[in-house]
Amino acid sequence: MGEPLVHLHDVAVGYDPEHPLIVDVDVEIIAGDVIAVLGPSGIGKTTLLRTIAGLVRPLDGHVELGVAPRGGVGYIPQRLGLVSNLSVQANVEMGVRVGLSRWYPPFFAVPKTQQRYAERAMEDLGIAHLADHPVRILSGGQQRRVATAKTVAQRPKLVLADEFLGELDDDNVDIVMRTVRTAIEAQNSAMVMVEHHEALAKQVANRIWRIQDGRLVEELSR
Ligand SMILES: Nc1ncnc2c1ncn2[C@@H]1O[C@H](COP(=O)(O)OP(=O)(O)O)[C@@H](O)[C@H]1O
Ligand SMILES: [Mg+2]
Repeated sequence: MGEPLVHLHDVAVGYDPEHPLIVDVDVEIIAGDVIAVLGPSGIGKTTLLRTIAGLVRPLDGHVELGVAPRGGVGYIPQRLGLVSNLSVQANVEMGVRVGLSRWYPPFFAVPKTQQRYAERAMEDLGIAHLADHPVRILSGGQQRRVATAKTVAQRPKLVLADEFLGELDDDNVDIVMRTVRTAIEAQNSAMVMVEHHEALAKQVANRIWRIQDGRLVEELSR
């Protein structure tokens, strides 16, 4: 049994207290977990992820975070959150900057150790040769790899990813999931991923959370 990283205590997820999206969410995320969140569009999957990340306040209950809110959580939004005019390397280094002191000047080069994390992540994801290219000229699959490298380089204890496998071809899914899994094992961390492709989710996850009728139902656990 791994260490608990996050505990959601009877959490109600949503924006409007009169109309919560998901209620009575009481779950724990344990080191080593790869959890896939399934459910129809508009049901609140992204909001649940943002609640775990601390970006949305729970309407009820509370989120007990056993990891540092800054640096400890790596969030890969659905729209990736990359800066398209900056180089691949600059984008990946933004990931490691999250883990630096908030007073570290943004115009200073990142320290050597963190530079190595960024380089290693780019190599693992097969984008090292693109380091100097602006992100905007890359394909969708390559951009997803950049977003993954950025998060892996940050070395978070918890990776939250929103539908990031969706548009990838099989080769890209393999590269991305292999790298993320290796990182999770090396850092004894965990991942929660929203995924609309059910077969794919079951292939890569060891736990499945299905959101239906305003509840979270745990389906598969292995
Ligand atoms: N910032 C927000 N304020 C209010 N309502 C929102 C906000 N973001 C999303 N919603 C609404 O919350 C519901 C769930 O959205 P979302 O969590 O994105 O669902 P999913 O990811 O499952 O498709 C939708 O009806 C959406 O319109
Ligand atoms: Mg969503």
